[in-house]
Parts: sequence; structure tokens; C-alpha cells
Amino acid sequence: MSIKTPRGTQDVLPIDVYKWHYIENIVREVADNYGFQEIRTPVFEHTELFIRGIGDTTDVVEKEMYTFEDRSGRSITLKPEGTAPVVRSVIEHKLYAEPQPTKLYYLIPVFRYEKPQAGRYREHHQFGVEVFGASNPSVDAEVIHMAMMIYKTMGIKKLELRINNIGCPTCRKTYHEALKKYLSARLGNLCTTCQSRFDRNPMRIIDCKSDSCQEQLQEVPLMIDYICEECDEHFEGLKSHLEAAKIPYIIDPRIVRGLDYYTKTAFEIITDEAGKKGTLCGGGRYDKLVEDCGGPSTPGVGFGMGLERAILSLETQGIDIPEPEGFDVFIVTMGDKAKLRGFRLLNELRELGIKADQDHISRSIKAQFKYANKKKATYTIVIGDDELNKGMVTLKNMEMGEQEEISIENIIQVLKEKC
Ligand code: HAM
Repeated sequence: MSIKTPRGTQDVLPIDVYKWHYIENIVREVADNYGFQEIRTPVFEHTELFIRGIGDTTDVVEKEMYTFEDRSGRSITLKPEGTAPVVRSVIEHKLYAEPQPTKLYYLIPVFRYEKPQAGRYREHHQFGVEVFGASNPSVDAEVIHMAMMIYKTMGIKKLELRINNIGCPTCRKTYHEALKKYLSARLGNLCTTCQSRFDRNPMRIIDCKSDSCQEQLQEVPLMIDYICEECDEHFEGLKSHLEAAKIPYIIDPRIVRGLDYYTKTAFEIITDEAGKKGTLCGGGRYDKLVEDCGGPSTPGVGFGMGLERAILSLETQGIDIPEPEGFDVFIVTMGDKAKLRGFRLLNELRELGIKADQDHISRSIKAQFKYANKKKATYTIVIGDDELNKGMVTLKNMEMGEQEEISIENIIQVLKEKC
């Protein structure tokens, strides 16, 4: 039996990898343009970090983490998201003591034991950003603007920005009372997971994926109607900044997000593809997270965007992703002496930054040309033992079919001018 990729994971084959390079280049360029620096954290962390950071009543922590004991019996978890590890690193390396705000980005694999389907995997990849040390709503608007700019640069259209205000611990107290009052009358009709969350984290229930629970939630009180003055001011500030930046938005009071650390702003960017709403990007503010993870009180805001979903959108919307160019030159050789001379030339060309290759598996001349064509070589240089004795090679323009004899001494100069 041959071994296959584990369920919910996928290989990126050479034929497709240019799509990844395309989007990775865009996110890095935009991040640089917005003043963000890359941070790299380990693929796995102590499990405790995610329990504390994400919250023990979330689906991610309760059902989806890849957790195991290492050989020393420590509980280790593969990153189920990118924010908590960055927060851990900011605290560990005291990045909060540097001139604020600290603006960080990352490109990471993320592991969640979810039910795989189109656009939902057990290993997916995220581009994420986190800004620390700035509580002004202009920063929330800045990260949203950045996400929209990334999609615009990629060419993805039909986007919808949905925002919500999910309050802070102060206003949540009053809200929880109203929410529990509403839910207690319907508790028997909720799924067992929701029942278990009723006392510990009732807001989680709003995010339940079960249809029967959602039916019970049609009239549920919403956080946005209970927010305190400070949260309200922040939301007004966010809206004015989005308007100033001409970013259309929809207020969606039902967004609660699947992770517990959010305060005030929560947002999602979705696209309506094939009739099915897909969340491309999600984020928000988390002003208590650094403190909850053992650091000094430091506000934070950020987002994570799924890269597989971005590629799916590019494909569904039929957006042309520039395909990589072929070789500048392929050296076709006949005979051992010619092959050796070709190898010298090959390396001289590569040193000049000319993209070149040569046959390594003793193909016939015809097969070498066929291969050069397949690899989209612009030129071929033909070197035969006989020509070599005369000090000549043949340069062929593969697209036009034209060819000319050139002295081997001059070939590099000629190609330098052409490539
Ligand atoms: P999230 O909403 O859980 O947020 O994930 C962010 C994005 O990752 C989603 O919008 C989606 O595009 C993609 N994604 C999530 N799960 C999967 C999956 N199973 N398969 C494919 N793509 C997926 C976070 O992870 C937060 N850390 C974002 C954040 C950063 N908030 C503040 N800073």
C-alpha cells in the first residue's frame, strides 16, 4: 500500500507553486509598504499557551488542536493559529519596550483537526499581522486597509468587509446577563457543547455551527446593543477611519469570531463564490491578550488570512496569475567533449544571472530540443564536437526558429545582450 498525504493536507506541486510565490510576494511587499516586519516563531508551542490565549471553551482548543506529549512528557501543540505565539514572543523578548507600535507579520502553517472540505483543511497556511502598543481605532482601520490592499493587488474582487463591536470585559458583564436570560429558556434545545458553554462562556454559543442551535438563536440579544461608552467611541472611530479610507463595510452584529481573545473590533472579509460564503480573512482587536499571557498591559490588533482560500478565489474568479518564465538558454550538446565545454559555458552563463540548463541524462539531440521546448527555453546553444574543433556554436531562437553560427568566444557577450 502506498503512503498518501494525511487527510486534510495537500502537497503543493512544482506546477502550482508559482501561485504561492505570487501571493507570498504580494503579502510581503504590501507588509513592507505598511511598515511591518516579519516574525518567525516555532511550529509548535507549549499547549498551555493556546489554552490561555485562545480560551478553553473554543472549538479550536476543545476539539481541533494537534496536541501530543514529547519524549520528555511535555504537552506540545502544533500552531492552531498565529496570534498567541506572536504574543508569547513579544513578551519573551520584551518587544513591547521598543518604540511603539510594534508591527509584525508572519507566514505560517496552521493545524486544526477540522472536517476537511473545499477551502477547509487540517493544515492550512496563513498570512497574519499583529500590531502592539496602539489602542487608537486608526490602527484597526489600517490593518483592514492592508488586508483589502492585498486582495486588490492580487486581483480578487467581490469582497465584503463585515465588522462588529464585541465589547470589553466591562460591557460584557451586562450582556452576559441578558444573553443567559435568553438562553436559559432554550437550554434544553441546544447541543451538548452549547449546554456545557452556558455557564463558562455563553457568547461562544452564538458561534455554534449546528443548524438546530442557530434556530434557537434567532432573537438572541447581541453584544453590539450592550456596549459601553468607551467601546462605542472606539467603534465610531473605526467607522470614520474606514469611511475616510473609502472602504465600504457592513455591520454584522452576529460576528463573534471563533477565538476568545477579541475585544472591541471583530471583522471578517468574505467573498461570495459558487453561492457559498467563504471567509478569506478574519481578525480584530485583543487588548487583554498580552496581559492574559503574562505580559504588561498592551493593546493589540491584527488579522489572519487563509492562503489556500486566496488561491481558490483567484482560480474561481479566473484571475491570471503570471506563470514563471522558462530558461533563457538550453545548451544542446553532441559528444563528450562538447558536453564538457557546454558545462563550462553553462556555469559561466549562470554566474551572469542568465537562466540556463543542460542535458544530464544523455538524451538524443531531438530529445534535447524537445525538452528545451517543454521548458520554454528562449534560446538553445548547440555544441557538437565537430563545431567545437572550429571554435563555433549554433545559437537558435526557439520561438522564431532562426539560427546563427557564433564563435564560442563571443557567445557569452551575445547572450548578455539578448537575455
Ligand atoms: P481565524 O479566523 O481562525 O483567525 O483564521 C483566519 C483565516 O484562516 C480564516 O479567515 C480562513 O481564511 C483561514 N482558515 C481558518 N481555518 C482554516 C482551515 N481549516 N482551512 C483553510 N483555511 C482556514 C485566526 O486564526 C486569528 N489568529 C486571526 C487574527 C490575527 N486575529 C488577530 N490577529
